[in-house]
Amino acid sequence: MIVLGIETSCDDTAAAVLDASGVRSDVVWSQALHAKYGGVVPELASRAHAEQIVAVVRAALAEAGIDRPDAIAVTAGPGLMGAVLVGLAFAKAASIGWGVPFIGVNHLEGHLLSGLMEPVVDGVAVAYPFLSLVISGGHTTLYRVEGLGRYGTVSETVDDAIGEAYDKVARMLGLGYPGGPAVDALAMQGRQTVSLPRPRLARVGSAVDDMSFSGLKTAVRTLLEKDRGVAPADVCASFQAAVVDVVVDRVTRAAHVWGIRDVLVGGGAAANEGIRAGLRATGLRVVLPPKRRCTDNAAMIAHVGRLRLLAGQPADGLTRTAEARWAV
Ligand code: KG4
Ligand code: ZN
Repeated sequence: MIVLGIETSCDDTAAAVLDASGVRSDVVWSQALHAKYGGVVPELASRAHAEQIVAVVRAALAEAGIDRPDAIAVTAGPGLMGAVLVGLAFAKAASIGWGVPFIGVNHLEGHLLSGLMEPVVDGVAVAYPFLSLVISGGHTTLYRVEGLGRYGTVSETVDDAIGEAYDKVARMLGLGYPGGPAVDALAMQGRQTVSLPRPRLARVGSAVDDMSFSGLKTAVRTLLEKDRGVAPADVCASFQAAVVDVVVDRVTRAAHVWGIRDVLVGGGAAANEGIRAGLRATGLRVVLPPKRRCTDNAAMIAHVGRLRLLAGQPADGLTRTAEARWAV
């Protein structure tokens, strides 16, 4: 089954083609227009998606060498409502035009299972149950995965997502938006000179604590206000070390509690060098997708849609709505 994936939930207009052999094309048009506003402007994002979607889908089909797919998988949420609607409306129209089914996919589930697109570590395939850590601009959750659609939350942030914390620290340092990659790069040049908090919050009914990054972000702000002489690279290195410690602690604890060794990681912050190195050093079997499959892309949407259609989930009808909020 050849599936066309479409993703327009935030500020990337993306289309990809995937079949049993893997990803055949993967096109992402990142909307640079938001940079000057310091964050994504929803209405501008919707308009840019509407302008770009036809060209992006055409490019994905051409690169894959096909005229039409067997099915379409499209992000139906969570995300910016207007932005999601552009992809969903396009998918419905294409579904009618080509006479092929379409299925709405949860964006978070795309990140959650993205590691399964290349699921082999040291020659051994990943198997259920495994852990999956989703760390993006809007979400930071560690899941225990029993099977397709069977996800239990093990630990999650009670306030800021990791990507959000990176973006806020970047803004304090005047590093632009999105700030994750800039803080990451600077952290690699700095030294861990400041000690910053690594909060742990008991999670009711769980052996693994929840996470919190808002206090860490505030500690960075206080530090910058008090000590104007501190080197930005050292601030970034110290901040990144705290984030890595928290993530590694929750993942290793969960792995220990359930005796699980396979860990998938997804979402934009999974592209972070410090987090990747920290997780690799745990000795667990960690699946780290290539960086372009960590940030928003349509291959992960095509992947989940294909898995669900193959598992027998019925295609969606034209009454399918977009969901601004949608837990996996
Ligand atoms: O998954 P994603 O592309 O979109 C969402 O679904 O949110 O994640 C975007 C987030 C942004 O907050 C961005 O700053 C962060 O991922 N990010 C990073 C890195 N690359 C992207 N955060 C830390 N280090 C990075 N290298
Ligand atoms: Zn995302």
